[in-house]
Amino acid sequence: MEIDLMDKILSLAKRRGFVFPGSEIYGGLQNSWDFGPLGVELKRNIKAAWWDRFIRRRPDMVGLDASILMNTKVWEASGHLKKFSDPLVECVKCHKRFRGDRIKTEDGCPECGGKLGEAKQFNMMLKTRLGATEDKASEVYFRPETAQGIFVNFKNIMDTERMSLPFGVGQIGKAFRNEITPGNFIFRTREFEQMEIEYFIPVPEKDKDWNNYFEYWRKEMLEWISSLGVDVKKEIRELEVPEKDRAHYSKRTVDFEYAFPFGEEELYGLAYRGDFDLKNHGETSGADLKYKDPVSGEEFYPHVIEPTFGVERSILAAMCSAYTEESAPTAEKGEEETRVVMKFPKWLAPVKAAVLPLSKKEELSSVAKKLADDLRNDLFVDYDETQSIGKRYRRQDEIGTPYCVTIDFDSLEDKKATIRDRDTMKQERVAIAEIKSYLLERFKEQ
Ligand code: GAP
Repeated sequence: MEIDLMDKILSLAKRRGFVFPGSEIYGGLQNSWDFGPLGVELKRNIKAAWWDRFIRRRPDMVGLDASILMNTKVWEASGHLKKFSDPLVECVKCHKRFRGDRIKTEDGCPECGGKLGEAKQFNMMLKTRLGATEDKASEVYFRPETAQGIFVNFKNIMDTERMSLPFGVGQIGKAFRNEITPGNFIFRTREFEQMEIEYFIPVPEKDKDWNNYFEYWRKEMLEWISSLGVDVKKEIRELEVPEKDRAHYSKRTVDFEYAFPFGEEELYGLAYRGDFDLKNHGETSGADLKYKDPVSGEEFYPHVIEPTFGVERSILAAMCSAYTEESAPTAEKGEEETRVVMKFPKWLAPVKAAVLPLSKKEELSSVAKKLADDLRNDLFVDYDETQSIGKRYRRQDEIGTPYCVTIDFDSLEDKKATIRDRDTMKQERVAIAEIKSYLLERFKEQ
């Protein structure tokens, strides 16, 4: 049943232009995905809302956009070259490879039942070369997390921004991991985007000092998750990650697991990284990455709390939570049919309003096009004049458009249009001249 939901979402995503298989005309490329016209809107809405909420509206936060390719010394100092690995097991019979911690190795190969070899540590850093030479010195790595760009720019930010503790630096950008088994649609891919915060705090004297910040960010993250339309109480499980499963830098990690159709899996993470990163980069590079207390003059490496959010996993969770099937009367005959509605929160919906003239006749379409053009200055608007009005409503429901505006023959007389609400399906007659303010008001309310 639940897997069935995943199939439905996958099919809707492809059919309606949210997500396409990557390089599809050449047979695809190992679980890579492209975001289509609606998917890119969803993605942009998520990134813009995150930036607004966590960076722009907060006096204690600044932003950064660091390079994806960084000096290899960064990855030596951060520990990624030695420790960023997953256990890999290979079937001695069919030679398929699996993540040792994700399968029951004692059951043998999940594909052919053959014997599995010993687990080896497989480093997930993705390598490439810079410049025209082929030697070892030209090798560089794609970043596996955006976080390191923040740590290596700590001094630059301190020199230019005069921030005092506690303060944070946020960044949105691509990260790359040579995952052994990517899969589950956009859940685990080798190229993905992260939205990360490194929140620097004074050196804690007691556990409670850093735990208070940790708990603060835990609440902030839950509020953000709920803003995606996720029912936090029902769909999220907070998992205190045991020491043996934590990343090499973490002293405490809480994973926010979402009930995906394929099981409860990590949506986001919150980690206490101590002073691991700044200290290692300071000592390895020789740069002064210490913070100088403006009052006492004391110099020290601040500690850091790291809330981290995956963009694609945000999209997948939002799509799973929004997907609804309900019984509804058909517009034409009054019979019942199943309507599929993506009940995205209004701010997240890719298309905010659809303008639909009842017929293609010029007298209606000219009024409707004029209205759509005017609305487009402020909202992402769709214009559709093909097929029956009932089919057009269903099409908009399926992509989560909160409002449909219909221009009919009465509109030519009374200068009004019908606005239909996606969730209640209630219809209201509103003067065409007031439609823009009517809609903008409703988007403000959310
Ligand atoms: N800087 C800390 C860090 O990178 P992580 O738990 O390894 O921590 C952070 O990754 C987030 O990035 C995850 O919670 C998830 O949302 C996303 N993420 C990680 N690997 C991913 C992958 N292969 N595909 C898609 N998203 C991924």
